[in-house]
Amino acid sequence: MSVRRLADVAVQPQQFAFSDSNAAWAQTTIRKYPEGRQQSAVIPLLMRAQEQDGWVTKAAIESIADMLDMPYIRVLEVATFYTQFQLKPIGTRAHIQVCGTTPCMLRGSEELIALCKRKIHGQPLTQNESGTLSWEEVECQGACVNAPMVMIFKDSYEDLTVERLEEIIDTFEAGRGAEIVPGPQIDRIFSAPIDGLTTLTEEPTPQRNQVTEPPAPAAPQEGASVPPSEAGRPKSTDAETNPTMKTPATAKSESAANAKKEGGETKDAASVDTPEGGEKTDLTAGAGKPAPEAK
Ligand code: FES
Repeated sequence: MSVRRLADVAVQPQQFAFSDSNAAWAQTTIRKYPEGRQQSAVIPLLMRAQEQDGWVTKAAIESIADMLDMPYIRVLEVATFYTQFQLKPIGTRAHIQVCGTTPCMLRGSEELIALCKRKIHGQPLTQNESGTLSWEEVECQGACVNAPMVMIFKDSYEDLTVERLEEIIDTFEAGRGAEIVPGPQIDRIFSAPIDGLTTLTEEPTPQRNQVTEPPAPAAPQEGASVPPSEAGRPKSTDAETNPTMKTPATAKSESAANAKKEGGETKDAASVDTPEGGEKTDLTAGAGKPAPEAK
């Protein structure tokens, strides 16, 4: 990435102001952010300033910093960091951003750049003589499947040849850029295969007639032993799942032995402390005695 600096003072306007509609839009945008976070609106405001004047001027940076109560240097950092912000005047009718990343390069972007140098200017980010056109090389624009491609303002033009790009540039130069349909410049829909469909080629019908049944599971071999599944066994280190614990205790002696194994205080499992403390209650007292007769 090249060093990005503000344009020469000679081309910088003295002042910047949003138009009435853009100023109202800016205030609405600032209010979208939570109290104390209004500075987050810096990128949308810079972008709106660029859309209004064609590029981001020093006056615009300072004006937006004042609106958001930010130091000038903080807004300058944002504007010079993102290559989407143009820091010099660009073509008023078209700024051609040619993708030069590997897929586009393999499909001919170098020839497109050579055309831009020949037709617009030998140097990127420099206006042609009439100030209507400029170009630059950019990184991947996310349309690699339709390489090579260029971006002009917010639209992409894909599947380009040198001849087709020349036609596009001439049309923008003539002020008729809106007549060109963005997207692939050959006969295909979006990023569909270049030689026609390779899947989903049959006519859709209301019935499913392409159902493929899954293969039936193999029958178990006779005599083969199947080990028990461990899937349902709890994976836990809790005392309650300790396989050495016999639960529920089936006898008083077994219960006492289990309690000892767990390292707890050995208690007679058949007796518990009363809530008030002190005395123990023998739960087995009366066991085996006949129930009192009902009166
Ligand atoms: S490489 Fe050109 S669009 Fe991705």
